[in-house]
Amino acid sequence: MQFTFIDLFCGIGGFHQAMADLGGECVYASDIDADCRKTYENNYGIKPDGDITKVDVTDIPPHDVLCGGFPCQSFSKAGKRLGFADETKGTLFFDICRILKHHKPKYALLENVRNLASHDGGNTWRVIHDTLDGLGYNVIDEPVIFSPHYIGVPQHRERVFIMCVRKDIGKLPPFYFNIGKIPPCSIDDILLDDNEIPDLSSYKLREDQIEWIDNWNEFIQNIKCEKLPGFPIWSDCLCPIEENPYFSEMETLPKWQLNFILKNNELWEQNKDFISKWLIKAKRNRNFFGAKAKLEWQAGNMPNPNIWEHIMQIRPSGLRVKPGTYFPALVAITQTSIVGKRKRFLTPRECARLQSFPDSFQYDEKKAQAYKQFGNSINVGLVSFFARYMFGDKNLQHKYSLEVQFPQIIKEQTLSLFPEWNTKKALQ
Ligand SMILES: C[S@@+](CC[C@H](N)C(=O)[O-])C[C@H]1O[C@@H](n2cnc3c(N)ncnc32)[C@H](O)[C@@H]1O
Repeated sequence: MQFTFIDLFCGIGGFHQAMADLGGECVYASDIDADCRKTYENNYGIKPDGDITKVDVTDIPPHDVLCGGFPCQSFSKAGKRLGFADETKGTLFFDICRILKHHKPKYALLENVRNLASHDGGNTWRVIHDTLDGLGYNVIDEPVIFSPHYIGVPQHRERVFIMCVRKDIGKLPPFYFNIGKIPPCSIDDILLDDNEIPDLSSYKLREDQIEWIDNWNEFIQNIKCEKLPGFPIWSDCLCPIEENPYFSEMETLPKWQLNFILKNNELWEQNKDFISKWLIKAKRNRNFFGAKAKLEWQAGNMPNPNIWEHIMQIRPSGLRVKPGTYFPALVAITQTSIVGKRKRFLTPRECARLQSFPDSFQYDEKKAQAYKQFGNSINVGLVSFFARYMFGDKNLQHKYSLEVQFPQIIKEQTLSLFPEWNTKKALQ
């Protein structure tokens, strides 16, 4: 299939990579960030324009597909439907609209954070949907929320995908996905062998970091409780209640905070002997302060927990431990995941793989930039997936239909339509 496309808010080119693989030719790209533009040009040989708000639509070539992962912003609550110019003015979505209005491409594929679906009490989605409709595009009524781990890529990254088909071209069938049917995925699919990493030592945890995590491992393996705590462990609250640093202000604390303090205290009461000895040892480690003296165990309940089998992130709220099956969403800020079983941080190449970029992709040589750019990027596999759905791939449309994703509902509907049939007949 041959087609032309434009890549708005192009970043490092997640859309470009997928669209080019499907046979598309990029005729225009734009991003306000100079470092992203450099990475884009290095990989695709196209120099993106800068700030899209400053670009005249007549300077953009005609194209078949408009692509854009635009930042999520609030629209004015106009009350009555005024049309895109009034409701969307001042937002970057407005710039997408003025390009659509002028060029009328056959398709547009847009992406945004999951929050867009509920943002501003649903007003944001309503304005986007109705505006695209008003510009002459068919858009599925409900926001489609999807994550790479739904198709076997080990990253949990829920995003809203907006497929727009010009009304004279056709209409998309509704998209269904049964989250009870998430296929298994494995982080081994994207991990490099340690001996393939040239500057391995810069990703490895230091001895003092290993000791600090070992201490938390000892904690989680030795505390006695009904099930492993899902609430945050705040080590400064593991003490008699009258010694709690918040004791004097307890009555004024918000409910959620008081709740955590009381749960920590209960844990201490049940494990006094172990915890008091453990705290003396844990505090000797130079990492054990502030957020690092907190643990967020989010790996579920299990008989013989071992922190090193899981994925960790050092977050402002504590050392967060997640199941070792897939990574949490890459984020632009530097909270690079720790691969427990390798006792090291994820490398930029592994981040590229989590976003389904090929190994030939050249990332920014400044590591902080590379992590940021992959954290902002879109998963290439999902662009390809939704582009194929939007272009009319019948197999894909069938696979994500109500009858395949939720056969039970179809069965029940059929039986309620024909109650006199027996189940066997209805299902034949
Ligand atoms: C969520 S990222 C999109 C990333 C991209 N889809 C990718 O695969 O890398 C949003 C991008 O919008 C860009 N941006 C924000 N404001 C912009 C503007 N006024 N004009 C052009 N680009 C802008 C940011 O620099 C950022 O790279």
